[in-house]
Amino acid sequence: MRLDYLTIFPDYLAPLSLSLPGKAIRSGLLEVHVHDLRAWAHDRHRTVDDTPYGGGAGMVMKPEPFGEAFADLGIGPDGGARTTVVFTTPSGEPFTQQLATELATGERIVFACGRYEGIDQRVLDHAGTIAEVREISIGDYVLNGGEVAALAITEAVVRLLPGFMGNAASLVEESHSGEGAGLLEYPVYTKPASWQGYDVPAVLLSGDHGRIAAWRHEQRLRRTAERRPDLLHASAAGTEWKVVPGT
Ligand code: ADE
Repeated sequence: MRLDYLTIFPDYLAPLSLSLPGKAIRSGLLEVHVHDLRAWAHDRHRTVDDTPYGGGAGMVMKPEPFGEAFADLGIGPDGGARTTVVFTTPSGEPFTQQLATELATGERIVFACGRYEGIDQRVLDHAGTIAEVREISIGDYVLNGGEVAALAITEAVVRLLPGFMGNAASLVEESHSGEGAGLLEYPVYTKPASWQGYDVPAVLLSGDHGRIAAWRHEQRLRRTAERRPDLLHASAAGTEWKVVPGT
């Protein structure tokens, strides 16, 4: 998979060469290209923004640098690889594990990282004629720009690529995918069995796999009911479960 990033802060994306994505790059599973959008701004100050038509606060990212960048990066109807252009924006569709799974099936993702009040709408309209466009939000809060969102989306997508994770089972058991999808994870413990007066739940030391599985499932339901009842209603319709205060 090839990933491109269009940003006015390339340094923000330096973590891409660390940790797991870094390993995927070195193993050839991933190709990553970070581009300074100002390379496609041609005035003396390399301007990428301007005041909004119609008035209002803040600045809007100009269309021309993005248009030239798309052309130079070979994004077009004849661009070959199936390309998705992701615009990271608080106005986008919510990012979910399902969306990560969809993006992981593609060949190329171009992240257009917005700053200021956003990107001129014509950039998105144009991108929609030459590639698949997704406007994605990573949550109901406002960041200073789309770079951190692009990093979060990248990590969620890349770890789904075949051959990326050492342990495929840990992908299946996670909170938002696989069996019991939509339930949060159960709490986990490791040695020592007793630490600072806290004991590991006895069932986990019992060796009884049936009881352990039942306990973990109950913990998942309990956590989900307490923290994310919206998920419980969506995933476990018909399951009897309610939070009893103090239990
Ligand atoms: N840019 C600023 N805030 C954002 C958010 N919550 N998600 C995606 N991109 C953003």
